[in-house]
Amino acid sequence: MKKIKSGFSTDLERVKNADELEKIRVKYLGRKSALTAILRSLKDKSVEEKRKLGPAAQSLRREMEALLSNHSASYRFSAAGGERVDLSAPAKKAERGHLHPLTVVDEETQKIFSAMNFSVVDGPEIETEYYNFDALNIPPNHPARDAWDTFWLKEPASQKSKVKSQKLLLRTHTSPVQMRYMEEHSPPFQIIVPGRCFRYEATDVSHEVNFHQLEGLMVGKSVSLANFKFVVEEFFKRFFGGQNIQFRYRPSYFPFVEPGLEVDIKLGGKWLEIMGAGMVHPRVFEYAHYNPHDLQGFAFGMGIDRLAMIKYKIPDIRLFYSGDLRLVRQF
Ligand code: PHE
Repeated sequence: MKKIKSGFSTDLERVKNADELEKIRVKYLGRKSALTAILRSLKDKSVEEKRKLGPAAQSLRREMEALLSNHSASYRFSAAGGERVDLSAPAKKAERGHLHPLTVVDEETQKIFSAMNFSVVDGPEIETEYYNFDALNIPPNHPARDAWDTFWLKEPASQKSKVKSQKLLLRTHTSPVQMRYMEEHSPPFQIIVPGRCFRYEATDVSHEVNFHQLEGLMVGKSVSLANFKFVVEEFFKRFFGGQNIQFRYRPSYFPFVEPGLEVDIKLGGKWLEIMGAGMVHPRVFEYAHYNPHDLQGFAFGMGIDRLAMIKYKIPDIRLFYSGDLRLVRQF
């Protein structure tokens, strides 16, 4: 048995593939092997000999079986019979995808507003002059148009629209979706509109030619600024995780609201301008064929990029669009 064992060890060390391993198994554990002969011969032996030889032969068999199965696990050979695969090597870490921080904020805002019964609405990124400006009470030549530096689309001469307000542009804000929604729905309703916007301006740490906004609109018989305050304060408290936030409302001007205001929040000791808002202007209701004497509503608009920058302390808006994976991998 000692001889069997040492022969087995030497043979096993020289194994190079699965076939050779199988040959060794047959040689040492097969029906014609020396060990099987020993085991078979036990029945003719005396009781003392059986007691001595039996357990020793069985344990040698188990030992060799175990070594063989260890070997076959750690020496697997490809079908081509070539390459050695070490199954005991640590696995390569699986690549995991990451959500972009803007996606994280987009999903979070939608969750919060949905929980407050707002519906999420979509609109086109290529807009007409009518929806982006005229219907929002910003007629041509209105000085307020300067506030929205616009990318106008070139139209082929043949398709040039006679009606000026059908001229195409990249929407400069999500507000045009207010009108699109009101044209097709009757109040009361409350919606948010997350979406991509474009402005023709120089880029710097806080300006990009394309960015994201979140529009809000709530219309009903007695919707008031008090309702607006509640909704907005509730949103920010949930979004920034119940931190101690202070709010400040400053008068401001947007042609499509009256009164118009700007909301500031105080976070970590600093006042931050966070959104434009106001009560929907009666002229806007008229464009939607609503009766402005029957209805009131509030509207607001804020930058999703800005929210993400504040929440995650990202210093430069351009990072969101740089495609730099070092940013995305942190989320
Ligand atoms: N659309 C405005 C902007 O882009 C923001 C706004 C929306 C203001 C709704 C008032 C009401 O600056």
